[in-house]
Amino acid sequence: MNKIDVLLGLQWGDEGKGKIVDVLTPGYDVVARFQGGPNAGHTLEFEGVKHVLHIIPSGIFHQEKVNLIGNGVLIEPHIFQQEIEGIEAKGIDPTRNLLISLKAHLILPSHRMMDAANEQAKGASKIGSTLKGIGPTYTDKIARNGLRVGDILAADFDQRYDALKQAHLRAARSLGFDVDAFRIDGMTLAQYEEKWNEGLQCLRRFNLVSSEYYVNRVLRENRRILAEGAQAMMLDIDFGTYPFVTSSNTITAGVCTGLGVAPSAIGKVMGITKAYCTRVGAGPFPTELFDETGSLLCSLGHEYGATTGRPRRCGWIDIPALRYACMINGVTELYVTKPDVMNDFEYINMCTGYRIDGAVTDEIPYNYNTAAITPILATYPGWKQGLAGITHYEELPNQLLAFLSAIEQQTGVSIAAVSISPDRKDVIFKSSTSMQ
Ligand code: GDP
Ligand code: IMO
Ligand code: MG
Repeated sequence: MNKIDVLLGLQWGDEGKGKIVDVLTPGYDVVARFQGGPNAGHTLEFEGVKHVLHIIPSGIFHQEKVNLIGNGVLIEPHIFQQEIEGIEAKGIDPTRNLLISLKAHLILPSHRMMDAANEQAKGASKIGSTLKGIGPTYTDKIARNGLRVGDILAADFDQRYDALKQAHLRAARSLGFDVDAFRIDGMTLAQYEEKWNEGLQCLRRFNLVSSEYYVNRVLRENRRILAEGAQAMMLDIDFGTYPFVTSSNTITAGVCTGLGVAPSAIGKVMGITKAYCTRVGAGPFPTELFDETGSLLCSLGHEYGATTGRPRRCGWIDIPALRYACMINGVTELYVTKPDVMNDFEYINMCTGYRIDGAVTDEIPYNYNTAAITPILATYPGWKQGLAGITHYEELPNQLLAFLSAIEQQTGVSIAAVSISPDRKDVIFKSSTSMQ
């Protein structure tokens, strides 16, 4: 029986997961999402064209590969339909290679309203949610009130939909939220519901399956599955910077619950990190830069949210957070993205520990959100040259190689590959055996 390989983000999201999944897909038979939903924005680039995916796995442009939306994922039918239409416009027929779990939960328009109502009620302490309805939908899942993809085939779906919507309307009003003024993409709730219902029709065109049986059969038949994480370690509901997190388990353990595979079936765990660090939304970020270097990382790295367009906060790479991520996820190999953004930097910093109240630690403390954390920085000379055209790891500039080997040494995990541009072709594997 084969094991399932996992690829996930080790920071606060947007590490380049979509790009790396697209590059690794030829080595797999199935690419499967296991958590999150349209809060994700995964960017792929090839042949000069950029593609942003939210719910659909990043293997979709490989027509001969199966892509699976697992039970742990949340689907918003209108966003799903828009995404499908975008893919169809690029000449791909996703009805051929996309499977959807009957057990995946549905994001209702009123879940999105609740997201806005909750954020408004939090005032200054708001999370900075993407407002796609993630928190309220997972809340209903755990409270056992949710609607699942399989329910759209049931005769009483409309009544159940309405009961849930009414509960949301009551809850939003009790928070003092102006339900009538609420808009999604400029539409009232009723207008958006029409689009949402069209989205349900679109969903019905797809192969809706008991994905846990499918996944285990594929592994038994010694075919290969790549599980694609969304969000990232530091946004995990249990181990991230709670409450400034998303509402799912973004970690390796989430693969077991989000796809229905046993812990013993987990194979390689590929962790993605940028050569620096970004965060979008609120919450702690000890290495954040508020100076010109931070602005340069943002502008040169095009650090604007793929889902919301918000500018991302930027800072130096954070080793304590990376080590934590490697520990919680059992990372077996690292992928480092975007060093090219710092090509012109005189020097590059790496945070190797935190100073908190005069004491030094390399652990993530419980009071991470409130502690005054001063990052301890190690400085590396910049490489001051472009990386375009480099195809072998050993050809990378010595200063960059030194920086990369410091990451390996500090985390205790080897680097499998480095990505040096948004394009599919620019991933440099350390040795030919690392490639699938
Ligand atoms: P994801 O959410 O982890 O899939 O990442 P996003 O797509 O949200 O953000 C990553 C951004 O960096 C996208 O705009 C990618 O096109 C881009 N990107 C990925 N890898 C590289 C790289 O190695 N160098 C540069 N310059 N950009 C990259
Ligand atoms: P990908 O998969 C970066 C952040 C939001 C907010 C918090 C909670 O592209 O890496 P939510 O909408 O889940 O309630 O938002 O999590 N967030 C992300 N940040 N990348 C993402 O996904 C994110 N998904 C959610 O900005 O701070
Ligand atoms: Mg993203």
